[in-house]
Amino acid sequence: MERFAFLIHPLDMRDVVRWEPRAAGKRPELVKKMLEWMPPHVTSHITGIKSITGKEIEGYFIAAAFLPEQFISLPKEQVLDKIIKAGKIAEELGAKILGLGGFTSVVGDAGHAVAQNLKIPVTSGNSYTVASALEGTFFAAKKIGLDMSSSSIAVVGATGAIGSVCARIMAQKVHAMTLIGRNQARLDKVAELIRRKSSCNITTTVDLRGAIPEADVIITATSAPEEIITSDMIKTGALICDVALPHDVGREVAQQRPDVLVFEGGVIRVPGPPDFNYDFGYPPGTSLACMAETMLLTLEERYEPYSLGRRLKPERVVEIKEMADKHGFTLAGLRSFDQPVTSEQFDRVSRYARNKKQSPDRLSFKP
Ligand SMILES: NC(=O)c1ccc[n+]([C@@H]2O[C@H](COP(=O)([O-])OP(=O)(O)OC[C@H]3O[C@@H](n4cnc5c(N)ncnc54)[C@H](OP(=O)(O)O)[C@@H]3O)[C@@H](O)[C@H]2O)c1
Repeated sequence: MERFAFLIHPLDMRDVVRWEPRAAGKRPELVKKMLEWMPPHVTSHITGIKSITGKEIEGYFIAAAFLPEQFISLPKEQVLDKIIKAGKIAEELGAKILGLGGFTSVVGDAGHAVAQNLKIPVTSGNSYTVASALEGTFFAAKKIGLDMSSSSIAVVGATGAIGSVCARIMAQKVHAMTLIGRNQARLDKVAELIRRKSSCNITTTVDLRGAIPEADVIITATSAPEEIITSDMIKTGALICDVALPHDVGREVAQQRPDVLVFEGGVIRVPGPPDFNYDFGYPPGTSLACMAETMLLTLEERYEPYSLGRRLKPERVVEIKEMADKHGFTLAGLRSFDQPVTSEQFDRVSRYARNKKQSPDRLSFKP
């Protein structure tokens, strides 16, 4: 049977405790030290993935355990060493491709250094992450009656691997878009690339707090280790696709802003039913889109560095969605702050969005 491996790591202390209950109540500094000492290891054997074409595959989750802030703050060599060692375990297990989950593809040069040190190809899973985030955004916009072509759209983290290709594809579908990031020169470069291929009116800004309240639709995909979009920043009736892991949107939004819809980008129903033999916090039978990309490439026996680096190809986003359709991978509904989005939520946000259009005060909702 064809075989893949996928690297995982905890996103926050809740994940660490789910993984290792004895970590509950321990000081964060101690937990971080424990993670530094923890060698890469196999977390689970994944079975039961069966394409609607009838083909079956298997895989492994391998832990390269650091928290997101450790991936960013620890010496690059130390972080890469753990990721590469985890990749070598994948090779020993007979995996023919390695998916880099979460920050294992964000660190350094977005996977190239890892790929150079392994014999098997490596993918970040970002093409399918983008495909499913965009699919979810258009689906949700329809549900709340938002006309994407006339809405004001913002992409946060627009210089990144996911953000930049999201922006490039979106530019073909909307009239105007704001690219938000931290580095003006890098943002201008992405904007220039988009302008060459579309007539979309692109603006760029490093002023996140100033730009977010203006946006009707936001796709956010930053590598910030903490929440950067808070409940006081969001416009009434807004739709936010939060692709980032850990999430960019503050959890308090769930309680304080019933007038907006925030959903997690990239939750996929995997055909089978699969048994991941590990609780990574998603409903049974579902995975993140980046994991699903590695599965799709294995089903197709496309053992190549499909999504690597920060210049992803829009054509690959289209192609991986075609592979998903062929093998029966679908968007698993929408999830918001760990819960499925209900039809009542869609209706409620839709009402706020409609009322807002009649109101001159665009930030009319007061928590
Ligand atoms: N949901 C899924 O299935 C899935 C799959 C894969 C990855 N992800 C997540 O998606 C996110 C992005 O991944 P990526 O591969 O695109 O990463 P990336 O290439 O490193 O891009 C991250 C972007 O975030 C920007 N950024 C970082 N901190 C910021 C801040 N405080 N404010 C504004 N912008 C900030 C960076 O901007 P600068 O130009 O300033 O550096 C960069 O453009 C990560 O959180 C990753 O874990 C999710």
